[in-house]
Amino acid sequence: MGLRACLLGLLALIVSAKCSYSPEPDQRRTLPPGWVSLGRADPEEELSLTFALRQQNLERLSELVQAVSDPGSPRYGKYLSLEDVAELVRPSPLTLRTVQKWLLAAGARNCHSVITQDFLTCWMSVRQAELLLSGSEFHRYVGGPAETHVVRSPHPYQLPKALASHVDFGNTLWGWWGWWGWGRQSQGLEKFRCHGRLGRSVVKGGWSLKDLRLDLLPTVGGLHRFPPTSSLRQRPAPQVAGAVGLHLGVTPSVLRKRYNLTAQDVGSGTTNNSQACAQFLEQYFHDSDLAKFMHLFGGTFAHQASVAHVVGQQGRGRAGIEASLDVEYLMSAGANISTWVYSNPGRHESQEPFLQWLLLLSNESALPPVHTISYGDDEDSLSSAYMQRVNAEFMKAAARGLTLLFASGDSGAGCWSTSGRHQFRPSFPASSPYVTTVGGTSFQNPFQVTSEIVDYISGGGFSNVFPQPSYQEKAVAQFLSSSPHLPPSSYFNASGRAYPDVAALSDGYWVVSNHVPIPWVSGTSASTPVFGGILSLINEHRILSGHPPLGFLNPRLYQQRGAGLFDVTHGCHESCLNEEVQGQGFCAGPGWDPVTGWGTPNFPALLKTLMNP
Ligand SMILES: *[C@@H]1O[C@H](CO)[C@@H](O)[C@H](O)[C@H]1NC(C)=O
Ligand SMILES: *[C@@H]1O[C@H](CO)[C@@H](O)[C@H](O)[C@H]1NC(C)=O
Ligand SMILES: *[C@@H]1O[C@H](CO)[C@@H](O)[C@H](O)[C@H]1NC(C)=O
Ligand SMILES: *[C@@H]1O[C@H](CO)[C@@H](O)[C@H](O)[C@H]1NC(C)=O
Ligand SMILES: *[C@@H]1O[C@H](CO)[C@@H](O)[C@H](O)[C@H]1NC(C)=O
Repeated sequence: MGLRACLLGLLALIVSAKCSYSPEPDQRRTLPPGWVSLGRADPEEELSLTFALRQQNLERLSELVQAVSDPGSPRYGKYLSLEDVAELVRPSPLTLRTVQKWLLAAGARNCHSVITQDFLTCWMSVRQAELLLSGSEFHRYVGGPAETHVVRSPHPYQLPKALASHVDFGNTLWGWWGWWGWGRQSQGLEKFRCHGRLGRSVVKGGWSLKDLRLDLLPTVGGLHRFPPTSSLRQRPAPQVAGAVGLHLGVTPSVLRKRYNLTAQDVGSGTTNNSQACAQFLEQYFHDSDLAKFMHLFGGTFAHQASVAHVVGQQGRGRAGIEASLDVEYLMSAGANISTWVYSNPGRHESQEPFLQWLLLLSNESALPPVHTISYGDDEDSLSSAYMQRVNAEFMKAAARGLTLLFASGDSGAGCWSTSGRHQFRPSFPASSPYVTTVGGTSFQNPFQVTSEIVDYISGGGFSNVFPQPSYQEKAVAQFLSSSPHLPPSSYFNASGRAYPDVAALSDGYWVVSNHVPIPWVSGTSASTPVFGGILSLINEHRILSGHPPLGFLNPRLYQQRGAGLFDVTHGCHESCLNEEVQGQGFCAGPGWDPVTGWGTPNFPALLKTLMNP
C-alpha cells in the first residue's frame, strides 16, 4: 500500500468516527437476572448477524392490512401472497446494493436473504463483526432455564452514518474493493462523503441519507437482547371444597366443556387447514408426551397423534413444560388439525431465535393461517427501532391473512420505577397493534366448570410505544370512562395500544412432560394456544364453506364488540406493590377491558358470528 493509500485510510478512520450513529441507543444492555458472563468471545469464532434493511411502502401496506381485515371493506379476506408483499416492501435497489457492498467489504460470507429481501443474515468472525459494528465487543454468556449459551455485546454499537462511507468506492487505490469485482465499476458507484456533522451527510446523486438509513437491527445475533424467560408457573393447589361435580384442574375435557365444544368440533381432515406454535426457549416437546397426554385427557374427541411438521431443530434433551403445554393444548383445542411447531429456529449462540422465526415467515409462501406464541419481553427493555421493525413484520403477516396470537404476559399490569416514579410495565409483542393478544382467566370456583373471573396474573395495559389503533378507540374510551377502579393516570399511557384483545383460562392446567403428568401449571402461555386452536376450528368451517381464513382478527373483533365471547366482568390483575395502587392494576368490567379483553370463547356463538362472510 502506498503512502497515499495510507493517508486516505487514516482520513477515512477519522471521518468515520464523526459519521457514525447509534441505531438502537435505547436498547437495554444490562445482564438479565440468571445470566453470567464467560468472558470475551474468541476473535476467530464465527458469528451470524442479521440485518434488517429499510423497507418501502409501509404506509401502503398498512392501508392494505386495514382493507383485508375490515369486514366492511370490499377487499375483506382478499389477502396478499408473500410475493405481493415482497413487491411492496422490498428495499430499494440502492439500499440493497449499498448494504451488500458494505457487508462484502467487511468480509461477510455466506449471506442469505429472504423472499421479501428485507433481511440479510451473514456469517463473519467475531473480529470482523467488532470492526463492522464499532463499539461492539462480543462476550459469551450462559443462563436461562436451559443454561443456554449466547454471544452478545454488552456495549452499544455504532454504524457508519453513510455506510461504507467516507471512502470513494470507485477509488482504485482501495484495492480490496476490486476483489469483489467492483473496482472497475466506478461510474455506477455512489460516493459517500460525510461532512463531519451527524445527520448532515451529503451523498452525491441527489438522494438523501435518510433513504439510506439501514434500519440495521443488527441483531448481530441479538447484539444485546437475551432470550426471554417464560414466567409460566406452577401454583399451589387450592383447597378442595367438598362438593359434587368436581374437576381437579384444567384438562382438554374441562376446556371443551366450558367453551361448548362437542366431540364433532374437530378438524375434518378434508382441508389443508393447519396451525402452528413457536418455541424460543431451548425447549422441546416429545411426541410420546403428547400421546400420553391424549391418552389421559383426550379420550372423547378425535385428535392427531403427532405434530405434522417441525420447523427448525428439536434437540434430544428433556421436554420443557412450556413446549409440552403449547403442543398439547393447541392440538386438543384445535383438535384433529394438522399442527406445525417452530422449534428453536436460530440455535447458534449468536442468533436471536425470535428474529429467526420472523425471517422464516418471510421466506415461506405457504404457512398455517394461525400461529400462537407465548413469548414476550418488557417494552422498556427493547429498543424502539427493534419494536417498530418487528411490528412491521406483523403487518406483513396480517396482510397475508395470518392470525398471530401472543400471550399477554403473566405479571398483570407489571411495575417498574424510573426516577422514583412508579408506573405499569407493558410488554411486547403483546402491545403490537397487529397481533391478537390473549389474557387469562380462572374459574370462579376452581374445581367446577363455572363462569370465569380474572386470573390476577393476566397481562394487560397500554403501550408506551404504539399509539392506539383506530379499531379499538371506542372500546377503550368506553372502558376508561366507565371503570370505577381506574389506577392513577400517571401509571399508564391512555393513548397507547391497549391489550389484551381476548382471553381464555390460564390457571391450573395439567401438562404431561417427560412422561409425568404435572398439575397446576398456570400462565397466559396456556390460554394462548387454547384460543388459537379454537380459531383454527372456525377457520376449518370457513375453508369448508369457501371463505378465506380469519386473518388479522382485531378489526372484526372490535367491530362486533366481542360477540360470541363470554364477557369476564369480575376481578382485577396485579401491579405495583406500593401505597398508591396497593398491588392492583386494572379491573375487568362489562365489555372490553385491559385485563381480559372482550372475554373468552363460547365456541358455537363465536363460530356463528365469525362465519360470514
Ligand atoms: C430462504 O430460503 C432460501 C430457499 O430455501 C434459502 O436458500 C435461504 O437461505 C433462506 N434464507 C434464510 C435467511 O435463511
Ligand atoms: C354454552 O355454555 C354456556 C355456559 O357454559 C351455556 O350457558 C350456553 O347455553 C351454552 N351454549 C351455547 C350455544 O351458547
Ligand atoms: C380427523 O382427521 C382425519 C384425517 O387426518 C380424518 O380421516 C377423520 O375423519 C377426522 N375425524 C373426524 C371426527 O372428523
Ligand atoms: C392451502 O391451500 C390453498 C389453496 O390451494 C393454498 O393457497 C395454501 O397455500 C395452502 N396452505 C398451506 C398451509 O399449505
Ligand atoms: C405514550 O404513548 C405514545 C404512543 O401512543 C408515545 O408516543 C409516548 O411517548 C408515550 N408516553 C410515555 C410517557 O411513554
